[in-house]
Amino acid sequence: MTYTPKILAFAGSTRTNSFHKKLVKIAAQGAKNAGAEVTFIDLRDYPMPLYDEDLEATEGMPANVRKLKEVFWQHQGLLIASPEYNSSYSGVLKNTIDWLSRPASSDEPGLSCFVGKVAAIMSTSPGALGGLRGLATLRQLLENIQVIVLPSQQAIPKAFEAFNAEGMLGDAKQQASIEKLGENLAGMLSKLNG
Ligand code: FNR
Repeated sequence: MTYTPKILAFAGSTRTNSFHKKLVKIAAQGAKNAGAEVTFIDLRDYPMPLYDEDLEATEGMPANVRKLKEVFWQHQGLLIASPEYNSSYSGVLKNTIDWLSRPASSDEPGLSCFVGKVAAIMSTSPGALGGLRGLATLRQLLENIQVIVLPSQQAIPKAFEAFNAEGMLGDAKQQASIEKLGENLAGMLSKLNG
């Protein structure tokens, strides 16, 4: 039986014209070209309160967190493009991960959305570093929740000039480097699960 990697792709930005939504969709296409099934989700479609332990104790897990957990459970790979906000990944991404890291019931294994998943990470920014500092902190976070993060990553500088009207990267080498992240993730999942 042939194994088909299932990859979840999302951005750490909910902004309508988010560069990171564009970026992760390019990587998603690379993964699809390599034979993966990719689901793109917009975190704006899963609004959730700021994590609060009292809120969780009194009201339980929000419905959108439960819905998102179901989506995570169905995928082995993660393509994540996060903005760098003040030298780290975005608050939206952190809040989402904090909620997802909580078990919905006492019989749910710890960190069930993350353990053993494989991720590829990327960023872009209007600045010269392309959000590179945020990737370092994101890598550390993901590894601490037992996600295997691929060594290759990409940070695309000068975001306002980098994308064309179709949402692709104007520079062919940059475009190929982001597609390659998706291909690498699909390839690694196939090696691990094939
Ligand atoms: C930023 N931005 C930014 N860029 C960067 O390269 N380093 C940084 O530390 C920050 N810090 C930062 C903080 C806050 C609060 C905002 C709103 C923005 C700029 C950021 O990279 C830019 O807005 C991106 O376009 C955000 O990503 P999306 O929404 O386009 O995907």
